Amino acid sequence: MSAVNSSLVHDLLIELDRAGAVPLHRQIETALRAGIRAGRLRQGASLPSSRRLATELGVSRGVVVEAYDQLIAEGYLASTPGSYTRVAAGPEEPSPAPAPPQPAAPRIDFGYGRTDPARFPRAAWLRSLRRVLTEAPHDRLNYLDGYGLPELRTALADYLNRARGTSAHPSRVLITSGFGQAAALITSVLAQRGARRIAVEDPSADDDIRPLARLHGLEVVGLPVTGEGIDPAALERSDADLVVLTPSHQWPLGGVLPARARTAVVRWARKRGAVILEDDYDVEYRYDRAPIGAIQGLAPDAVAYAGSVSKTLAPGLRLGWLVLPPHLADAVADAKLLADRGSPAIDQLAFADFLLRGEFDRHLRRMRPVYRHRRDVLLARLAEHLPGFEPAGIAAGLHVVAWLPDGLREQEVVAAAAEHGVHVAGVEPYRLARPGRQGLILGYSHLSENRIAEGVAALAAAVSTLGARPRPAA
Ligand SMILES: Cc1ncc(COP(=O)(O)O)c(C=O)c1O
Repeated sequence: MSAVNSSLVHDLLIELDRAGAVPLHRQIETALRAGIRAGRLRQGASLPSSRRLATELGVSRGVVVEAYDQLIAEGYLASTPGSYTRVAAGPEEPSPAPAPPQPAAPRIDFGYGRTDPARFPRAAWLRSLRRVLTEAPHDRLNYLDGYGLPELRTALADYLNRARGTSAHPSRVLITSGFGQAAALITSVLAQRGARRIAVEDPSADDDIRPLARLHGLEVVGLPVTGEGIDPAALERSDADLVVLTPSHQWPLGGVLPARARTAVVRWARKRGAVILEDDYDVEYRYDRAPIGAIQGLAPDAVAYAGSVSKTLAPGLRLGWLVLPPHLADAVADAKLLADRGSPAIDQLAFADFLLRGEFDRHLRRMRPVYRHRRDVLLARLAEHLPGFEPAGIAAGLHVVAWLPDGLREQEVVAAAAEHGVHVAGVEPYRLARPGRQGLILGYSHLSENRIAEGVAALAAAVSTLGARPRPAA
């Protein structure tokens, strides 16, 4: 806020109680003092002339002069002959609390699941934004229905059917702010319909379904990931109403759910009237084998398919989608309206334009070799510096898992790495049933080849200190 314009008397927020016991000049003083202390009236701001303020407030000029004089005496205001009275003091600043000690930021962060923000296609996105701002009809800026804008729903259905093997009709595509919101909408609708249990892969992400289940009072059942994915027999036993799967690239272990297990999961869902929430989160990056189609293509009646741009463009865009089975679509659209009245229209239109003009495909074509090369460097450096580590889930995505050799504990490695300036996560925090095989999750997509090499060397140095360290007694 700049200086108060002296013509804006109402900005001073002075309300007088004429029937009260407090004299009017005191009331004016109090209001102005409070405004200055709160910082609403900034140092240097000019106040209205006493004549003008008196007229506005319907009091005699002497009342205002008395209030101003008192505040001048207290040092809140200053007056210069021939000029406006000004605010002299700043707001009362509480004495700053001593800053809490900050943990040193890691030099190299193998945080998982990031895009490289420096590669965001700014120029192409700007062209799409410009186009839609120039061309979109006015009514696109009105309130939306819960599904989102038809332009994006149609463009997404085309893209997903082509690239992901879905069977998506635009009328069943719903725009969300990412997978996080897709999960929130689905769980809230199913909880309202009486769902009791959610089955999740074990290990799996711990920052969406699990807290959502707690919020809605739903029980969470872990399905152990063995080999390439979950065992459908465990799902049969789970008594779940919803199963959340990452079948095309299990997070974090990286397996692909085999065809037989896919059909078994679909059979289970149909028989039970349960829902499969398919989290198709980073499948655009598949390096060594053909892309795996989505389960939704097999069973559009039982699968709520979810995706987002968080792993392709940038998580900060908060753009995602659901392809919904008929029996959930309208209820989820109602929940979306209730949550936020719809995702931002300009972003939806820009993304639709981006898809339609082939910019999304172009961006993915550009990024695949970049991420693939970073993965190759990571694997080569791990083989060189940490040959006892066993990489897994390397065929796709933006991270790999490295299983630790016998005798090394994740927590020790993570802590030693931190001492060497490297942030890396273990697998264990994502497990429901502990302990399990010990491993690290290494995200590489946001790191240059040099940083990856430096990070692995530092990790190896950290690990070499562990052999010499006395083990705590068991
Ligand atoms: C397993 C998994 N699914 C989905 C997402 C994307 O979430 P969102 O679309 O809400 O950014 C992530 C991001 O980290 C993830 O790890």
